[in-house]
Amino acid sequence: MASWSAMALSFCAFAFLRRPSCRFDCRVPCESTLNSDTSRSINNGVDKMVFDLLRELADALVVGAGTIRIEGYAVGRKPLVVVSRTGSVPPTQREAGSGKVLMATVSTAPYVDEAREILGRDNVLVLGSHRVDLARLKDELVLRGYRHLLSEGGPHLLRDLLDQGVADELDATVVPRVIGGSHRRITDGPPVEIPLRLTTLVEEEGTLLARWFVER
Ligand SMILES: NC(=O)c1ccc[n+]([C@@H]2O[C@H](COP(=O)([O-])OP(=O)(O)OC[C@H]3O[C@@H](n4cnc5c(N)ncnc54)[C@H](OP(=O)(O)O)[C@@H]3O)[C@@H](O)[C@H]2O)c1
Repeated sequence: MASWSAMALSFCAFAFLRRPSCRFDCRVPCESTLNSDTSRSINNGVDKMVFDLLRELADALVVGAGTIRIEGYAVGRKPLVVVSRTGSVPPTQREAGSGKVLMATVSTAPYVDEAREILGRDNVLVLGSHRVDLARLKDELVLRGYRHLLSEGGPHLLRDLLDQGVADELDATVVPRVIGGSHRRITDGPPVEIPLRLTTLVEEEGTLLARWFVER
């Protein structure tokens, strides 16, 4: 706790005024687009503090299978909900142990039976036939006692969480670095336009910690 700065703590102190909640956390460089493929290179100390604090506050993490595969998510302390159209359990999560990983997928997913074998029947949530119904996912997780959900990515999942009216908050850490070239944005997939209201903005060592509420 001693290494967590006052600014980072104040940013997180007001984290869960509205409940149950679904927050999306991401980090971006100073330019307007997300440098998805180099997300590790835009991590800094302040961002890491907030990242860790937000994880501490969450009951469960909800993450797209793509991000888990690419970033090689390790098995953590918090339950991890993998969102996947194929139902394929990411390699790093296959030995996670009972109840630590849930799969949110669809009935037509080619790997749904395999997911049931690996994770256990109760840990595979089939929420739709061709598209994961993310609002139902949120309700199902709340019923299981996971009221504060944190999504850490990625761009396709954020797009769908916004489109389906499931994300309540967007937390973006803007790091003081310009990264040139053409890069992906914080959402990917069909266009989506959602108004946001800035509720918190703090600065720490040149890094901006911003929280927006989704306007509905
Ligand atoms: N800078 C940042 O803050 C940040 C944050 C997160 C990620 N990233 C970066 O983003 C990149 C990954 O991008 P991505 O677009 O592949 O991420 P993603 O959205 O996590 O992954 C896409 C995959 O996740 C599953 N998925 C996502 N949304 C779904 C939905 N609504 N329903 C069903 N399945 C869904 C599908 O998996 P299946 O293929 O299994 O069906 C889909 O192919 C990585 O480079 C990562 O490092 C950056």
